This record gives sequence, C-alpha cells and structure tokens, in this order.
Amino acid sequence: MQLRVNNQILTVHAAPETPLLWVLREELTLVGSKFGCGMGLCGACTVLVDGHATRSCITPISTLDGKQITTIEGLSAEGTHPVQKAWNEVDVPQCGYCQAGQILTAKALLDHTPDPTDEQIDAAMSNNLCRCGTYPRIRKAIHRAAEMGKSTHAMLEIREELLAAKGESNAIKS
Ligand code: FES
Ligand code: FES
Repeated sequence: MQLRVNNQILTVHAAPETPLLWVLREELTLVGSKFGCGMGLCGACTVLVDGHATRSCITPISTLDGKQITTIEGLSAEGTHPVQKAWNEVDVPQCGYCQAGQILTAKALLDHTPDPTDEQIDAAMSNNLCRCGTYPRIRKAIHRAAEMGKSTHAMLEIREELLAAKGESNAIKS
C-alpha cells in the first residue's frame, strides 16, 4: 500500500495489520519515532496523523490510507519549527529518548490551543512519559513556543496592514 509520510507518497510492503511504528523504523528507516512500551502507554512513538498526536505502535497501517503522517523528521527541514527552536532554547532533552513524541504532542496541542495554560499543557502532555523527568522544561518550552507563535502572528498582521496601506495609496495615485 501507499503511505503519505512527511509530504511524500511512499510504497510500503508490510502487511496491513503492521503497526505504523515498525514500518517507519524498519522499512522507511525513519528512526526518530521510538519504541517504548509498544502498548500505547508511553508516547515515545507519537507521530501526527492528519495533525493529531497518534501512537504509532498501536496504529495499523491499514487505517492510514490517504492520511498525512508527520514524523519528527518531517516537522521541519532543518529543525527550525518554533517548537523545535523553543526546545533548543530551553535545552529540554536529557537522554532524548522520549523527545520526538513530546515535541509532536506539543505541536498538536499548540495547533489547537495556541496559548495554553499550565493546566492545558499538563492535560495534553500527561500521557507522554519521560524517565528523565524533563516535565518542567517541557512546560516551559511549550510556553516559549506559544510566545514565538504570537510574535510571528503579530508580524504577519503588521505585514498585511502595510500591504493593505500600500494598496490604498497606489489606488489614490492612479
Ligand atoms: S511505544 Fe507507543 S505508546 Fe509506548
Ligand atoms: S529525556 Fe530521557 S526519557 Fe525523556
């Protein structure tokens, strides 16, 4: 079957019931998603499916026809997505094992809740386990990514206003 992964359509040969995590790691050599519990309990394998944080260890590829799958490798070409930048700034990871799943879960949260409260962060992230206990830094980085998102949004608004003003002034001149 074909899977749409990181904006590419890829042919995979695994059986339809194969969990996505195995296909990503073994067949597509996208090893950023990690195997932790294999039972949907830890979040290490989290990827985005149509923007939703999804446990790839318990998601058969047969359920993914036509869906957009995003792994940590596809979040940005050079690790420059605001969530990744915030993660670097706050220096979140310790061993790093859980972090791809944490980052993708945080991205899904911020896409739906651009300026989350501590409580909303804790609720969204509570099932992504970190044996190194980086939870306080994860929370801080999500707030930082939200700030970055706000300033980007403000800059886009200013740009739109400037372009609109320029359009009006051109219309007056002509
Ligand atoms: S490896 Fe998938 S939730 Fe733990
Ligand atoms: S950084 Fe080590 S498990 Fe999370």
